[in-house]
Amino acid sequence: MRTQVAIIGAGPAGLLLSHLLARGGVESVVLETRSQDYVASRIRAGILEQSSVDLLTEVGLGDRLRAEGDEHRGIYLNFAGERHHLDFVDLTGRTVWVYGQTEVQKDLVAAGTADVRYEVTDVALHDVETDRPYVTYIDSAGATQRLDAEVIAGCDGSFGPSRQAVPAEHFERVYPYSWLGILADVAPSTDELIYAWHQNGFALHSMRSPTVSRLYLQVPNGTDPASWSDERIWEELATRLGHGQDGWKLNPGPITDKSVLPMRSYVQTPMRHGRVFLAGDAAHIVPPTGAKGLNLAIADVTLLSQALVAMLRSGDPALADAYSDDALRRVWRCTHFSWWMTTMLHTSGDPFDAQLQLSQLRWVTTSSAGATGLAENYAGLPIGF
Ligand code: FAD
Ligand code: PHB
Repeated sequence: MRTQVAIIGAGPAGLLLSHLLARGGVESVVLETRSQDYVASRIRAGILEQSSVDLLTEVGLGDRLRAEGDEHRGIYLNFAGERHHLDFVDLTGRTVWVYGQTEVQKDLVAAGTADVRYEVTDVALHDVETDRPYVTYIDSAGATQRLDAEVIAGCDGSFGPSRQAVPAEHFERVYPYSWLGILADVAPSTDELIYAWHQNGFALHSMRSPTVSRLYLQVPNGTDPASWSDERIWEELATRLGHGQDGWKLNPGPITDKSVLPMRSYVQTPMRHGRVFLAGDAAHIVPPTGAKGLNLAIADVTLLSQALVAMLRSGDPALADAYSDDALRRVWRCTHFSWWMTTMLHTSGDPFDAQLQLSQLRWVTTSSAGATGLAENYAGLPIGF
């Protein structure tokens, strides 16, 4: 089989890249190890930046997002028994949207633009330093296949084979804590997200819809989710999020999903080697505190699709040659912001660190310079920044 762009991975990066390439008149085939149902139901990101929403709208994927998503003006920061609202609209003129990654994924599948081969195995990249790279794999019926292409796009997340095909330098930070995340069938107890610093550890109150809440607790690495009963989770969330503070209440409800996720920062550079281009989690991972992972994947494939359309349709390699540097500027900005939010809000048990964190939180909630810096990064810089 032959196509112009062989895309590995049908997460948001791979499916959106395929959609953007099709709009630019470039053909692609997407290879995915998991089933369509599995990919569509993975619970992950929940927040879209303004520029992600604008891009999805521009390319015909914004109807359900705008009808069912929830536009937020900002976030709350809770610490030392006080809740402070940061209003991104007042500070930067930008908003963020609550719209689950599962919904973005469904919209991409419903658009029907991507030719996806699900449940493939043994995906391997070949001849990536030549103009005729190809990918081999075993299809869902067990037959060995070869996909010839002009370019390979590695959108296969942090465990896929594309990253290994790019000899690169990598930068990494592993954090000494994880998040215990729950999904609950209960109306959110807040109109906008609450990020809480507490001496027991960080907590986050997020949401998915008017009837579904998503909440997180900082826990030690290696925590077994089964060791936290539902009752203990709600009690600890109430303590850390400020139940009772100024009359605010956290409403508990039935927990439908419970999982632990480790926290890591990782950047691989460059994001291109020969005819392989990396995008999304295949090239970088951020801890979720800044809500950046999905937005970075969207920004990467926006730049990459423009570069590949120019290269494959007009024979102009300039944007493709600049892709890695262009994408990495934003990647490092988001890597710094995610690290900064993470280290400001998670406790380590060190009293000196705690005082620095509280000082920093006071600064971002009382100084317009501090607040604007957080708001500008959280609500997101324009794609191409
Ligand atoms: P992925 O979604 O990982 O997709 C990669 C795909 O490649 C997968 O479908 C995988 O099955 C497939 N694959 C792997 N190996 C192979 C192979 N060998 N062959 C073929 N296919 C393969 N980000 C935000 O922006 N905002 C948030 O609020 C946020 N919250 C998060 C909360 C949680 C709990 C988690 C875990 C993540 C969160 N993120 C958030 C991060 C976000 O989910 C990821 O950054 C995003 O999924 C990246 O998309 P991707 O397409 O690059 O990678
Ligand atoms: C989520 O809703 O899953 C979510 C929201 C904000 C974050 C991280 C995760 O910073």
